Amino acid sequence: MLKAFDFVIFGGAGDLALRKLIPGLYRAYCNDELPEGTRIFGTCRRQEAVAEYQDKVRAAAEQHLRKGEFVAETWDRFAKMIHPLFLDISSRDEHWDKMAEILKSGNDNRVFYLSTPPSVFGVCCKHISESDLISPTTRVVVEKPLGYDAASADAINTEIGEYFDEKSIYRIDHYLGKEAVQNLLTLRFANGIFEHLWDAKTIDHVQISLCETVGLEGRASFYDDAGAMRDMVQNHLLQLLCLVAMESPNKLTADSIRSEKIKVLESLRALQGDAVKWHTVRGQYAAGEMDGKAVPGYLDELGKDSNTETFVAIRAHIDNWRWSKVPFYLRTGKRLKERFAEIVIQYKDVSHEVYPESAGGVTPNRLVIRLQPEESIQMVLMSKNLEKHETELTPVVLNLNLAEKYKHFVSDAYKRLMLDAAAGDPSLFIHRAEVDAAWGWVDPIIEAWQRPENKPMAYPAGSWGPEASEELLSGDGRSWFNMDELLTEDQD
Ligand code: BG6
Repeated sequence: MLKAFDFVIFGGAGDLALRKLIPGLYRAYCNDELPEGTRIFGTCRRQEAVAEYQDKVRAAAEQHLRKGEFVAETWDRFAKMIHPLFLDISSRDEHWDKMAEILKSGNDNRVFYLSTPPSVFGVCCKHISESDLISPTTRVVVEKPLGYDAASADAINTEIGEYFDEKSIYRIDHYLGKEAVQNLLTLRFANGIFEHLWDAKTIDHVQISLCETVGLEGRASFYDDAGAMRDMVQNHLLQLLCLVAMESPNKLTADSIRSEKIKVLESLRALQGDAVKWHTVRGQYAAGEMDGKAVPGYLDELGKDSNTETFVAIRAHIDNWRWSKVPFYLRTGKRLKERFAEIVIQYKDVSHEVYPESAGGVTPNRLVIRLQPEESIQMVLMSKNLEKHETELTPVVLNLNLAEKYKHFVSDAYKRLMLDAAAGDPSLFIHRAEVDAAWGWVDPIIEAWQRPENKPMAYPAGSWGPEASEELLSGDGRSWFNMDELLTEDQD
């Protein structure tokens, strides 16, 4: 049973705290998942922010929770758990002493959530340690992207490691907290049939798409330094790739899962130098239209020139026995036509076509795993059109609509991960070795992108990214999967 805990958010008035962390804790409160005596602290750098903290978190929660979730009376009771603290992370002064005094009089079960730029992770951990606030039941949660490249990630990890041991460091990747993402493991390892349909013998290729409609969303300076590769590929996309491609862990423990994931990361074929041009596409959105409204391009939103990519597509290969010669097409981008996260496993064509051309042709089978906005698992199969006397083949969809089945489920990855950190369960967090391996693959690609011929290609906001992203697949005789198009083509 989860024991009462103290949850300290450094950067308590920042965007992540207001948009995700406090609303997530409120959801946990509504579900009776916060034990009596739990306290939440948000640090603020300005005295005025302390004074207005309660109003600010309340307004943000009203804005970010879904319709019907915010109930004023419940919020008022929950808000009694929230305490703003005035604190400058970098100066170890009397405010740190005051915080230490408050925390020492509370719960020994303690989580420090560093919702700050990575540049202050080290000093923050140092001051936590000097304030004598680290016990065996203290954990520190750090946000992605951890570092800027392998070297800076290593430096940050080493710095944090001076004060916290590895098992107390919880590196968060919120995609792993999504129930639909965990369901990938269930799909694969609790259903015997898939093991026989999960390798180079049966699978033609795999697509993983994380498409977003949002643009910069007020995070211009962070985003322009990072770009889509560091913001989405190094972490979320590679984590999903690991879950799809890894071997079965012998147990569902953090250690077993991690060691399988690392094997995948280490088997990724390195892309460097000239190969980067052929296997990757970089894009940057230009002005365009979203939902019938004109939207500005990235450079206009940013207000300066920049070579940062807002779109990435990659053809990756995993050089091991299971995945030999099976391409994994990865893509992510901002200001795309639709928001969704999806994994498509496309099976090989039938080995011999027995139907005549007049039957309409056989479309390959696909297993389509939708992670968001609605969770579903669909299998595209071929069927005979029963209304026709002559044989007419048509793709049909076996649809496991999980969003419909679990109507009352509200997906909140942050809530899940914050509670796991409070319970001391590291299974869904990232180990240092995973961070290193992921940067090890990503760094040479970013390096090659510095060449002038690899500048990002413009794509209109509201499109599916640069043309070259389509060409990456069409050159291999494939295309990005679109269920609506498949089913509409069939009706035409
Ligand atoms: C974050 C990225 O990690 O994930 C954001 O920093 C991105 O740029 C977000 O928008 C996407 O998360 P989700 O859960 O909305 O798909």
